[in-house]
Amino acid sequence: MGRAEGTEDSAVSGWVCGVGVGPGDPELLTLKGLRVIQRADVLAYPAPLEGQSFARSIVAPHLDDARIELAIRMPMQAARFPARAVYDRAVQDIATHLEAGRGVAVLCQGDPFLYGSFLYLFGRLSADWPVDVVPGVSSLTACAAAAGSALAARNDVLSVLPAPLADPELEARLSACDAAALVKVGRHFERVRTLLMRLDLGDCARLVVHAGLPDERVLPLDGVDPADVPYFSTILLHKRGRAWL
Ligand SMILES: C[S@@+](CC[C@H](N)C(=O)[O-])C[C@H]1O[C@@H](n2cnc3c(N)ncnc32)[C@H](O)[C@@H]1O
Repeated sequence: MGRAEGTEDSAVSGWVCGVGVGPGDPELLTLKGLRVIQRADVLAYPAPLEGQSFARSIVAPHLDDARIELAIRMPMQAARFPARAVYDRAVQDIATHLEAGRGVAVLCQGDPFLYGSFLYLFGRLSADWPVDVVPGVSSLTACAAAAGSALAARNDVLSVLPAPLADPELEARLSACDAAALVKVGRHFERVRTLLMRLDLGDCARLVVHAGLPDERVLPLDGVDPADVPYFSTILLHKRGRAWL
């Protein structure tokens, strides 16, 4: 962490650091993440083709001066091919800043190493540059706090399952665990709800929407309108209903 934090001499060389900015509440940015962001010459962040970057909006209340910004724009539901080209281009842009001796903080919603878009940059950059990472508060823990329900206790096995997985795979993994967090729910909600009901797990599951944001909601599955499930939604379930029981 020396280069990004300024505890090593970085006067002659650039540095790059992936910074987890937490699930959405600007107060859930870590002190270390904030320090790295405030030290950076360049802020890079994922952004939709048009409009605001969620990651940048989380740190916006903490930004007090102008700096170079690099929005990595792509369709939010990108197929792999165009995303590759966008990340390749972003790495070139970041490398240009590093060669010019600048410090680059790459913002990542939640934690960078938990399904973070930063991973695609990390994989490309780390072949040529040392890349630091500041962990962030992940959406899993933010959702658990919002729901007032532990993710796992004792020797529980907690599975983190991407909702786009096919039903047979989800079913097998759900059968094998004590508790689960289903991420990337969004447009997959109805299919996943039907599966959970069939497995008799509907009653011990809840949908958490926009944890930590002003419009946060925690809902029983049967009360959810599938047309109103945004991308930043997670289903938490525990087979005992409450992890501590
Ligand atoms: C690509 S993953 C990124 C996870 C992120 N890196 C983290 O550490 O939480 C995006 C998924 O995380 C979950 N997620 C992220 N932020 C959330 C929030 N504030 N509330 C509920 N779910 C969230 C949703 O399931 C969303 O589809």
